[in-house]
Amino acid sequence: MFSKSSIIGVIGSGAMGSGIAQVAATANHSVKIFDSNPLALSKAENQLKASLAKLVEKQKIDSVKADQTVNNIQFSNNLSDLKDCDLIIEAIVENLAVKKDVFSQLGNICSDKCVFASNTSSLSIASIASACKDASRVLGIHFFNPATLMPLVEIIPGISSNQEIVYQCKLLVDSWGKQTVIAKDTPGFIVNRVARPFYSEALRIYEEGIADIPTIDWAMKEIGGFKMGPFELMDLIGHDVNYIVTETVWTQLYFDPKFKPALSQKRLLEGGLLGRKSGKGFYDYAENAKNPEPTKNLDLGKLIVSRILVMLINEAADTLYLKVANAADIDLAMTKGVNYPKGLLKWADEYGIPNVVKELNGLREFYEEDRYRMSPMLKQKFLTKTTFH
Ligand SMILES: NC(=O)c1ccc[n+]([C@@H]2O[C@H](COP(=O)([O-])OP(=O)(O)OC[C@H]3O[C@@H](n4cnc5c(N)ncnc54)[C@H](O)[C@@H]3O)[C@@H](O)[C@H]2O)c1
Repeated sequence: MFSKSSIIGVIGSGAMGSGIAQVAATANHSVKIFDSNPLALSKAENQLKASLAKLVEKQKIDSVKADQTVNNIQFSNNLSDLKDCDLIIEAIVENLAVKKDVFSQLGNICSDKCVFASNTSSLSIASIASACKDASRVLGIHFFNPATLMPLVEIIPGISSNQEIVYQCKLLVDSWGKQTVIAKDTPGFIVNRVARPFYSEALRIYEEGIADIPTIDWAMKEIGGFKMGPFELMDLIGHDVNYIVTETVWTQLYFDPKFKPALSQKRLLEGGLLGRKSGKGFYDYAENAKNPEPTKNLDLGKLIVSRILVMLINEAADTLYLKVANAADIDLAMTKGVNYPKGLLKWADEYGIPNVVKELNGLREFYEEDRYRMSPMLKQKFLTKTTFH
């Protein structure tokens, strides 16, 4: 269905669209990228050239390849230029009405064979597809930031997607050197759902005063083996993005208490303390700022890690239970999409499912909150004495 000569369209030349265009152009596709804002287009073109020049400097590619990649991309401020595309990936503002409007326009511009994908992080593919002439040709293709570096791509069939088209899109994205997983059209798909407790349980531990921010980050890195602590990562992502993802997943899952956002993060957002991008969030990023040091207490550190870890495992198990994805894809998604040191289901097997069950039951008993309810999948593994892998 797709070949090297397939023309790839990208809509939106912001952080994600420009990265996706670079990935497809590097794979030698002819790429057409459209943005309604001319300034965004010229910024994307300059950034693309700078990013390729850096790769040449680091000797990752030669200058011929860099020139080829630039020449493969046509920057356009006219949506009609995308009329001969075989696949169009939309990466514009995360607003359902705006996305639907663009997709409905594309129906009158493109051929009946063109496949339409959205890079949305939180909107339902079913609702986006409802704006298209033929919903069977619409799916989610969700890259991670930065798209040029992060290997994971979630492929999300919509309720009306043609399975063969979904499969061909998966093969195409695989051919771009990405690792694809299939996720059901559910809030947060795999990664943005399973990762929620990494932030929310850390916030809860902090709000309860069990440990302070640097200590939680220290424990998750030094004992847990994560590349970044939850608070450092929230500051890096930005609270305007990270908090909103949490809130969106929570509301879309009918206010399931497992996903309840934290007020301490909301206050940062309301106060404009967005993290690194605004110079201050949980940490102060001013040049001479003095941030508190962690309390490197091993017992406390282990308690922090195990509490966050069992909540992550519980969510991974529930994601499997609800058939959002299979076990191999859930583990691949968390290691390749957010750099977790291990897949969570594999981690559960190693940690011992009876240990996970015991700790979760302890939390549930103590707090008497539905937030700590165990996934039936975990319970089933425990009762049948089986493992995930
Ligand atoms: N940033 C991330 O970490 C990330 C990760 C995965 C997915 N996403 C998703 O990718 C999409 C884009 O996110 P982003 O971070 O690149 O946003 P961004 O703000 O960096 O870029 C969006 C671009 O879309 C353009 N745009 C807005 N409305 C348009 C329209 N009607 N027609 C054409 N262009 C239009 C804007 O001019 C802008 O250049 C969103 O759906 C987001 O949820 C973002």
